Amino acid sequence: MTLRIAHFSDTHVLSLRGVTPRRFLNKRWTGAVNLALNRSRHYRVEIFEKLLDAVVELGVDHAVCTGDLVNLALEPEFEMVREMLASRFEPTALTLVPGNHDYYVKEAIADGLFERHFAEFLPADIDLELGPAQRYPVTRLLDGVAIIGLSSAVPTPVFVANGEVGPAQLAGLKRALAHPDVEGRFRLVLLHHPLLPEPARRLDSIRRLVDASAVIDGLRGTAETRPHLVVHGHNHEFKAQRVPGTDVPLIQVASASKAGNRSRAEFNVYVIEDGALARIERHIHEPESGRFIAHDDRGRPLTDDARAS
Ligand SMILES: [Fe+2]
Repeated sequence: MTLRIAHFSDTHVLSLRGVTPRRFLNKRWTGAVNLALNRSRHYRVEIFEKLLDAVVELGVDHAVCTGDLVNLALEPEFEMVREMLASRFEPTALTLVPGNHDYYVKEAIADGLFERHFAEFLPADIDLELGPAQRYPVTRLLDGVAIIGLSSAVPTPVFVANGEVGPAQLAGLKRALAHPDVEGRFRLVLLHHPLLPEPARRLDSIRRLVDASAVIDGLRGTAETRPHLVVHGHNHEFKAQRVPGTDVPLIQVASASKAGNRSRAEFNVYVIEDGALARIERHIHEPESGRFIAHDDRGRPLTDDARAS
């Protein structure tokens, strides 16, 4: 049996509709808006919409998104993205987790904006006996695949992009990986933040998953319950690594809306054959044609023959 799962992330959709002048009186907020406006020149909504169309056209078995759908976590941004997703995906066809930008301001977290707008894409297919206020990990059971989605989005001061999973979710992750419903299925874990630091990257120390080593321990678990694949976003470039101490692939996807010469929008497709990851395709935006072209995981264009093999 062959299954194909599409993965996109970090769309950073910006909408300043409804931002009141009173908010601009706050110096930090003005800085955030300026940064977001600058960012919006490089992250294009129309490219994200084309990417979603390309995912739908491929007819994949499921799609996952690892967060940072919006930019400043304003309600109009969530409304815009919700419309884009709900018009293309049935509730059972897409699974999401939030990123730091989806929790950018305290009000968004307090109002549960991400959870409210994307409720149907945040499933709880396995009873993990989570506490009454605990929404994550989300769990999705598909024919042959179990998806476990962690939230690493936490309140942070503006301009700090750290993340944290926390002990309650790690306990949930452990229960999910060992759950009888998951046994025999391909285990896919989602989160927004990278597990490994990138010291060469500017501001890396305020962009990290602060409890990464505990999450790695939780994923390493026992050989029988380890995930088959862990995927994340946040750093806007494709990267293939391994979960430390294991041979579990750890895949970072590029941004789904990036425009420019240095990097382009792309999404991944994970091809699962007979319960194992057979290959990874990178579908990269081609500005001239507006199409997304399939490449292998080393960035070489795939011919139809190579894709079929
Ligand atoms: Fe992020």
